[in-house]
Amino acid sequence: MAEIKRIVILTGAGISAESGIDTFRSAGGLWEQHRVEDVATPEGFARNPDLVLNFYDMRRAALANVVPNPAHMALARLEREFSGELLLVTQNVDDLHERGGSARVLHMHGELKSALCTSCETRSPWFGPLIDRPPCPACRAPTLRPDVVWFGEMPYQMGRIYQALEACDLFVSIGTSGAVYPAAGFVQEARANGARCLELNLEPSEGSHLFDESRHGPASVLVPQWVEEVLGG
Ligand code: OAD
Repeated sequence: MAEIKRIVILTGAGISAESGIDTFRSAGGLWEQHRVEDVATPEGFARNPDLVLNFYDMRRAALANVVPNPAHMALARLEREFSGELLLVTQNVDDLHERGGSARVLHMHGELKSALCTSCETRSPWFGPLIDRPPCPACRAPTLRPDVVWFGEMPYQMGRIYQALEACDLFVSIGTSGAVYPAAGFVQEARANGARCLELNLEPSEGSHLFDESRHGPASVLVPQWVEEVLGG
């Protein structure tokens, strides 16, 4: 195997599933319990802000009851020990990568533990509820919303991500269904630029055929195994 110098990793809800956070599209998943258009669109927020603030307040509070699993820890080990360049991009809004030890995580869909002011657009670290309309730490306006990217909004740092996808020699997708763009298109972007593409997922995803290799099983097993291969091999 040629030496790997630049890796881009994309993670999705599947990496946090074994920590006890519901995925979106599984049976009984979040999008069966809630309508996407109600809780994950700007229009839903305008229609019923209390419902939306409460939905994210509950998810933020629930983070206190979960812990990172061996897959998060293995990616943190990779960050510490890999001598090349690594970009870890997550679609997840939880903080389990950070708590697993990863210091540099790009949250392309935002974070539960961050609030976005709709008046001054400042993003502030946020740990409590938003339902009571607390003031923005920057401008004091009571106009904070969850700092989570909703359908119809632009994910964060796309320029930086595409730059890394153009330059990487290995792209790894972990625990994501490949149902939501632009993240679902990263594999094609990396492939078009000559990178090897590896999928680690519980089951074949919508885009499995686009990968050079697809391994199926729980992330807590597959990810530590793969990290060991990269660092040991
Ligand atoms: P999904 O719920 O769409 O997909 C989760 C994937 O993880 C599925 O392919 C599962 O098979 C897989 N999976 C489940 N358990 C696993 C395990 N233990 N080990 C490995 N894989 C496992 O979640 P995402 O792909 O993350 O966006 O969803 C993408 C985006 O859609 C989310 O970021 C969110 C959602 O709507 C926004 O809210 C903007």
